[in-house]
Amino acid sequence: MGHRFLITGGAGFIGSHTALVLMEQGHSLLVLDNFDNSSPEALERVKGLANGQGSLELIEGDVRDADAVEHAFKSGGTIDGVIHFAGLKAVGESVNDPLRYWDVNVNGSRVLTAAMERHGCRTLVFSSTSTVYGEPQTFPLQEQTPTAPIHPYAQTKLAVEQMLGALCRTGAWRVASLRYFNPVGAHPSGRIGEDPLGIPNNLFPFITQVAAGRREQLHVFGDDYPTPDGTGIRDYLHVMDLADAHGVTLDHLLQQPDSTALTLNIGTGRGLSVLEVVHGFERATGITVPYSIVPRRPGDVPKLEACPLQAKTVLGWEASRTLEDMCRDGWAWQQANPMGYRRG
Ligand SMILES: NC(=O)c1ccc[n+]([C@@H]2O[C@H](COP(=O)([O-])OP(=O)(O)OC[C@H]3O[C@@H](n4cnc5c(N)ncnc54)[C@H](O)[C@@H]3O)[C@@H](O)[C@H]2O)c1
Repeated sequence: MGHRFLITGGAGFIGSHTALVLMEQGHSLLVLDNFDNSSPEALERVKGLANGQGSLELIEGDVRDADAVEHAFKSGGTIDGVIHFAGLKAVGESVNDPLRYWDVNVNGSRVLTAAMERHGCRTLVFSSTSTVYGEPQTFPLQEQTPTAPIHPYAQTKLAVEQMLGALCRTGAWRVASLRYFNPVGAHPSGRIGEDPLGIPNNLFPFITQVAAGRREQLHVFGDDYPTPDGTGIRDYLHVMDLADAHGVTLDHLLQQPDSTALTLNIGTGRGLSVLEVVHGFERATGITVPYSIVPRRPGDVPKLEACPLQAKTVLGWEASRTLEDMCRDGWAWQQANPMGYRRG
């Protein structure tokens, strides 16, 4: 039988794809989102794609607002588990406005978990990040690799991991902090996808916007990193693989009889350089992506690549989609929605 889950930030990029996967599994979802970086249209499209499977209700509100969170727990039936996506994620912005990041990411998580504690709902999947590893020197990155975050974004995510670890030590909590590497692509329908406001911070939407002619050329930030072609290496994974990982994680946590604290890398284990992604996109779509090399961005590290074995061992999850899938699906979304959710 389906469960009832609260999904904070469920209208966002990863949240919307995960919501669809969970609805297709027959679950009932309550999404709490303030649309700070998303559109209600995403949820309408998720409902359309789910085509009568599962259900989705929306509460428009801020995760830092204790009344809004309380309302979520009091509306409808018991909540069996929570996925906490709501948060801010732009590295550069976090350097310029650290207090906002500590407020939304850390205080928001505190308000949420306090309500969970009050309502006896102690099953939680938390969106953490590979950037907690900072500038690692040894690869691939295992979960026990020391963390050394170098910007406020990663520092706030690590602080929440630590807060959740402390909660687990009080007993009764079942928590998974998933350290995502670089989610890209879109649902293969092209109906939902990543919709960044302004100039994209991430490589993939930048590439698709250049391919679509919305921007003149791609900026490659640095070609003098200590990597084979000099450009930065990241572990890109298809957002649908990441969405699947959330469904599997919730299933796993709900089966645990005792308090559980998991920290898992979620990546493919196969890092790709910026130029490898550009050329992969060109091969998958037949479109040339003009680019220019510009200086490195502060906060960027040469390489992040997961060791994903722990997720496979514990959850039985591993990424299955290829770079070609990521490019084809991301491009389908961009072509069908040149201005994201804002038009058509
Ligand atoms: N996309 C990535 O590359 C990546 C990598 C690692 C970790 N993460 C983390 O995963 C989570 C989801 O990322 P995403 O890419 O889907 O980002 P996103 O910005 O698309 O989604 C975040 C969602 O949270 C909502 N939100 C923000 N502040 C809120 C608040 N105070 N109250 C309620 N809702 C709020 C936004 O409106 C949005 O819908 C974030 O916590 C992010 O830090 C993302």
